[in-house]
Order: sequence, then C-alpha cells, then structure tokens
Amino acid sequence: MLEGKVVLTGVKPTGTPHLGNYLGAIKPVINLGNKAPSHYMFIADYHAINAEKDPGVLNQKLKEIACVYLAFGMNPEHTIFYRQSDIPEIPEITTILYAYTPKGLMNKSHAYKAFVDKNREAGKPDDDGINMGLYTYPTLMAADILTFNSDIVPVGKDQVQHVEIARDIAGAINAHYGKELLKLPKFHIEERVAIVPGTDGRKMSKSYGNVIPLFEDDKAIKKAVFSVQTDSRPIEEPKDPESVMIYQIYKAIATPAQLQEMAAGLKDGKLGYGHIKNMLLDAVIAEIGEAREKYNYYMNNFHLVEEMLAKGAERARPVAKETLKRLKNAVFGR
Ligand code: TRP
Repeated sequence: MLEGKVVLTGVKPTGTPHLGNYLGAIKPVINLGNKAPSHYMFIADYHAINAEKDPGVLNQKLKEIACVYLAFGMNPEHTIFYRQSDIPEIPEITTILYAYTPKGLMNKSHAYKAFVDKNREAGKPDDDGINMGLYTYPTLMAADILTFNSDIVPVGKDQVQHVEIARDIAGAINAHYGKELLKLPKFHIEERVAIVPGTDGRKMSKSYGNVIPLFEDDKAIKKAVFSVQTDSRPIEEPKDPESVMIYQIYKAIATPAQLQEMAAGLKDGKLGYGHIKNMLLDAVIAEIGEAREKYNYYMNNFHLVEEMLAKGAERARPVAKETLKRLKNAVFGR
C-alpha cells in the first residue's frame, strides 16, 4: 500500500503527551513513517499561533513534541523533519490557494464551527475570539499537504475533513488549468488502534485528569496505574475480562499472548486486581523503554534537535520551491 508513496504528517505543538496519545496517535505515525518510502513530518507552529500567543509557552511545547517523536524512534535520517515556519514557501502557496478556496468551504470547517458553537452556548457573538488564522486554518493545512506532493496523510477522525478540503482545492486548481499541478492526497486512519481508556474508564484525556503519564518516573507511573478503578468482586469470582477496566487499558498495549494470559486469569478467578495492575505497569514500563532517557537527553541538548530541524528544512525546501514555481507559472502565466 505504501509503495512509491509520499506520507506527510503534521502535528500541533500541544504539550506533553500521555500514554493514550502515544498509543493512539504517536506510535502508529512513527511506524507508518518509518515504513513509508518517503516521509515528511513537521511541527505546525503557524497553526499553533492562532491559539497560543506566548512565545515562551509555544517554544516549550514545540521542544516537547519534537523530543517525543525522536525519543520514540522517529528516524530523522529517513524522515524529513522540519518546522512549518522554516519553509516560507508554505505561506506563499497558501496565498495562491486562497484564490481557489470558496469562503463557504471555510464556513463549514469543523474547527471553526466548533468555536462558533461554543460562543453560542456561552451567549457570545458568533465570531467572538475567532481570528482569521483559525478561520482559514484548512487552507494553510492544504498548503502543508499539497506543497510536498503528498499521497497519504495519516490523521485522526477530526482531521479527515481538512484533508478532503485539500483535495477539493487541489482538484479545483487542476481542473481550472487542465493539468495535474497538484497531487490529490488521501487521508489515512489507523483502524486498529483503540481509544485508550483512562484511569476512570473514560477516554484518556488531560482534561479529565485520568491519564497515565509517559515521561515521569516509575513511581508516578505506578501511582497512575494503581489508581485505575476496580470494583469489590473477590479474586475467585469468575469475571468477564471486558468488565475490568485494567484489562481494557491492557488491550491497547499488551501482546496477544499477554492479553490471553490476563483474560484467562480473570475468567478463571485466578488473578486479583493487584496482580493485573502490576502486569499493566510492567507492560507500560516495557513499552516506554529507553524513550524516557532519550527524551530527557534531547530536552537537555536541544541544540542537537535544532540541527536536525535545520537539516530537515534544507531537505524540504527544494521540493517546496518546485511546487511554488509550478503554481506561479500557471497562475501568472510566466
Ligand atoms: N490540523 C492538524 C491537527 O490539528 C495538524 C496539521 C496541520 C496537519 N497541518 C497538517 C496534519 C497537515 C496533517 C497534515 O492535528
């Protein structure tokens, strides 16, 4: 499926991820990127400034997200790894795309509509607090994608619409000039990854305060794992594994053999909650492996990461320049 394909991944710098982010989004993207013949991966800092106005906070988040991907095995020799704001051709291409972006398409964008809905709920005017960056967000995202002739864009469900918008814009431009100036991208959703439940059974999310952390010490991880909710059924009572929250989390991380072992122990009334919490803890620690040390190393030696990002931009820019040239050629007829 990946033969000859260009895969492009964008991430917003959103702060320290937890186990749910890692299993649900980061790990599959790294695996896919390492398998793809060509992989671009960038940090969407222009997108981030719509919401984050403090450069100190923004930089800290950018540092964290860059180090997370490196710590978990993204290979910057293979993957072209860069900051969006280091590629000036992207905003230039965005400007050209604007001329082919119907305003109605932006009105329908989820990111914008969700903000309007929130304003209405709060009894505020529709456009309260909405800047043009947020409103035109999908066009910049289209430029991110189309600049690098991407075939496949791995995304979460919430971003599918944005990839479709990139396709629509590219299709409109190609149709207008009667040739394939821009490649039509496809979204990719990793079907197998489950939504990882948090310690209270709801989706793992920082806003629910139910996360299992990744980059804290063993003690903090243990504390989170041991806080996973259980009930008062005795060990010997046979249990449907699906009715046990620890098992639900274990599903996202364990090998089939490990999972089988826990399931059998629960069904036979042989494994107690303390025991399976330890099994989960071991699996989490094994999964994180050396990533914590690597993460701290890169955070403390960020100049190394800066060098990687600079190299990534150097590799990315010739492709961006080529796309810009092709577009300018067509739209200005010169
Ligand atoms: N909008 C994406 C998100 O919120 C981040 C992003 C920006 C992106 N540009 C992209 C993702 C291009 C894929 C391709 O997660």
